[in-house]
Amino acid sequence: MMKRYYVGLMSGTSADAIDAVLVDFSTGTAIKQTLSHPYSQQISREIRALARPGTNEIERALSLDVLLGELFADTVQKLLHLAGVAANEVAAIGSHGQTIRHRPATINTAGFSWQVADPNIIAERTGITTIADFRRRDIAAGGQGAPLVPAFHQSVFQSAERHRVIVNIGGIANLTWLPIEGTVVGFDTGPGNTLMDAWIQQHQQRAYDAEGAWAISGKVNQPLLAELLADPFFMLPFPKSTGPEYFNLAWLEHKIHQHLLNPEDVQATLLALTSHSIAQAITTLAPSGPTDVFVCGGGSKNHALMKSLQRQLPDFSVSSTTMLGVDPMWVEALAFAWLAKQTMESKTGNLAAVTGAKGARVLGGIYPG
Ligand SMILES: Nc1ncnc2c1ncn2[C@@H]1O[C@H](COP(=O)(O)OP(=O)(O)O)[C@@H](O)[C@H]1O
Ligand SMILES: [Mg+2]
Repeated sequence: MMKRYYVGLMSGTSADAIDAVLVDFSTGTAIKQTLSHPYSQQISREIRALARPGTNEIERALSLDVLLGELFADTVQKLLHLAGVAANEVAAIGSHGQTIRHRPATINTAGFSWQVADPNIIAERTGITTIADFRRRDIAAGGQGAPLVPAFHQSVFQSAERHRVIVNIGGIANLTWLPIEGTVVGFDTGPGNTLMDAWIQQHQQRAYDAEGAWAISGKVNQPLLAELLADPFFMLPFPKSTGPEYFNLAWLEHKIHQHLLNPEDVQATLLALTSHSIAQAITTLAPSGPTDVFVCGGGSKNHALMKSLQRQLPDFSVSSTTMLGVDPMWVEALAFAWLAKQTMESKTGNLAAVTGAKGARVLGGIYPG
């Protein structure tokens, strides 16, 4: 049986769902099947709780590792069933896992990053070779371990005619700058949806602000926006990466205490923070010549956010990766299927200029099927 397929499994910092894709790379990047398995509220809450220091963490992290290993494996089995594809037709699964702690190195401390969803369980249940733990080799080589998607963006989205920027707006937002020629750059720009999600959860018990409707019912508070944008992270040169262990409600509340505000005005301001920080990052890359911006991730569904981003970038065209033929909701999962293929072929998956690693490395651990 020819092993023509790869599976990509991704769950980002939003802790909303396991996104799974079945891909055939022999004909470009053909998505054969997709499936999103939403987390229960309880699991989602536990993932978010583990992003910050708490009690009994080792026991809880290991329990989650096993629980998510089973859930990731179930998701693969459902995906293959839906597609009518047998396990022995799949070359490998690339599983990002679920990040519970990501802390890039500082001058004084070593960096680390930990993704759970035990790949031993995924390989055992599916019988398919599973690649996981993609980030730590890059960190061992002196990198941030993030973002890892730029190499994939470069391979499928780079154009010879126009500069492109791919912006992934998940819980955290990251971008990849793809010039017509020259060095590809990529880094986390800061919060994507994570602060908006946390704020609406606290005030309206909803998981997210659908289409940004609540945000546009409020008014941006300029002094607060300026204060939020003054956070040193936004001024840091790349390589840089971050997570919800930094950008969270505690971070916001610390800055908000001076201001008397309606909750919907705070939501509007958080939306503006996401679009301003992304736009600032794009403009400081100072591209010469026409540049197109393509958005992917859940944030691409937020109309108000997309409009705000276009307003901040009047000289750029802002659209989603749909324009490039790839559904914006599956770009990240696709990237991990691609990274698995790279590893299976002993090819490198990181871009040293992006992560700051000493060099390109073959990423991940291989768990044979
Ligand atoms: N219709 C929508 N309107 C506004 N925001 C949305 C919509 N759909 C998804 N999102 C946002 O996208 C997030 C999930 O995006 P995703 O790309 O899966 O992020 P992550 O990679 O962090 O899991 C949700 O938490 C939510 O904030
Ligand atoms: Mg998600």
